[in-house]
Amino acid sequence: MTTTHGTGPDPRPALVAEDLVVEYPAGRGRRVHAVSGVGLEVAAGETLGILGESGCGKSTVGRSLIQLPPPDSGTVRLGTTTLTGLAPEALRRARARIQIITQDPVSALNPRRKVKDLVWEGPSIWGSGGDTRDKDTRTDRALRDVGLDPAAVRDRRPHELSGGQCQRVCVARALMLEPEVLICDEPVSSLDVSVQAQILNLLETTVRRRGLSMVFIAHDVSVVKNISDRVMVMYLGKVCEVLPSEGLPHEAAHPYTRLLLASLPEVQLGTTDAPADAPVHAAELPSPLDPPSGCRFRTRCPLATGRCADEEPVPREIRPGHRVACHHAEPRRNRP
Ligand SMILES: Nc1ncnc2c1ncn2[C@@H]1O[C@H](COP(=O)(O)OP(=O)(O)OP(=O)(O)O)[C@@H](O)[C@H]1O
Ligand code: SF4
Ligand SMILES: [Mg+2]
Repeated sequence: MTTTHGTGPDPRPALVAEDLVVEYPAGRGRRVHAVSGVGLEVAAGETLGILGESGCGKSTVGRSLIQLPPPDSGTVRLGTTTLTGLAPEALRRARARIQIITQDPVSALNPRRKVKDLVWEGPSIWGSGGDTRDKDTRTDRALRDVGLDPAAVRDRRPHELSGGQCQRVCVARALMLEPEVLICDEPVSSLDVSVQAQILNLLETTVRRRGLSMVFIAHDVSVVKNISDRVMVMYLGKVCEVLPSEGLPHEAAHPYTRLLLASLPEVQLGTTDAPADAPVHAAELPSPLDPPSGCRFRTRCPLATGRCADEEPVPREIRPGHRVACHHAEPRRNRP
């Protein structure tokens, strides 16, 4: 995809989040530190991938961005509209501009409704729909746009469709409201491998054709790398690294990112230059109830020093558009 990423802040960011904090109550006064001071910026027409292992807070960030629920603290701006703190009616209206596609398309759709009504739900709720003829014309067009044959599917219910077809209906529903930003949270992970590539291709062509911005959440490194302009890597509720996706295989500098890359076959990264760092400590993933002091990755990090326990690393720019939150990470060599 073509964007202005990598050369500093975009003059027209579509979505900005600053210092998001989300903690879930866990009984007996304890709290799950799910997201702890995460910030991100997505330029107009850009796709930002969010990568990290299970439980690192990816979905919590995605939900905070659409304010379902709002973060405990921090700010989210959609264009010039600050979503955090908006009055309910204003937030309801603004939400049409930022749509989410989730992992399980079948349960995202009301099983009792027909496809044409599911796709038309947005315009009917938001009062932007016209008469029956308008509905038929626009829902048929939306279905064709996502690669479905309207005559074959418009009167069916979700259980009569495949998982891939249901995800296409979810995309059609989201696009009906003409959003500026799509949040995709593991949109293909529940689908058969054979249809995953089709849905990824649909999302990629859709955002490119419409000039949408996208936040694409997944734990599959190669999928995120291929669809995103930039990648943000998270570990235990914190951002470790943000860099252009094309630089991921060769330039990733954070020890955790390099651990993720080292676990992949070279062919998935499209490189024979797979990282070969010191082995990671075998320690288990720490509990988000009581994250480690200083750098949260220190209990597994092969480069950890005393400073890493005492001092939280502040993200710093090691080359234009490439930020790393690590005391000891150095820029790696440029691409060949
Ligand atoms: N509603 C909730 N109540 C309590 N804890 C929660 C809740 N939702 C998420 N968590 C916890 O918050 C942390 C972050 O969860 P989140 O679902 O955001 O991670 P994730 O990166 O999306 O994981 P996955 O890759 O498995 O989807 C985890 O420790 C999770 O157990
Ligand atoms: S700050 Fe220290 S513990 Fe954290 S990633 Fe860097 S070297 Fe490892
Ligand atoms: Mg998740």
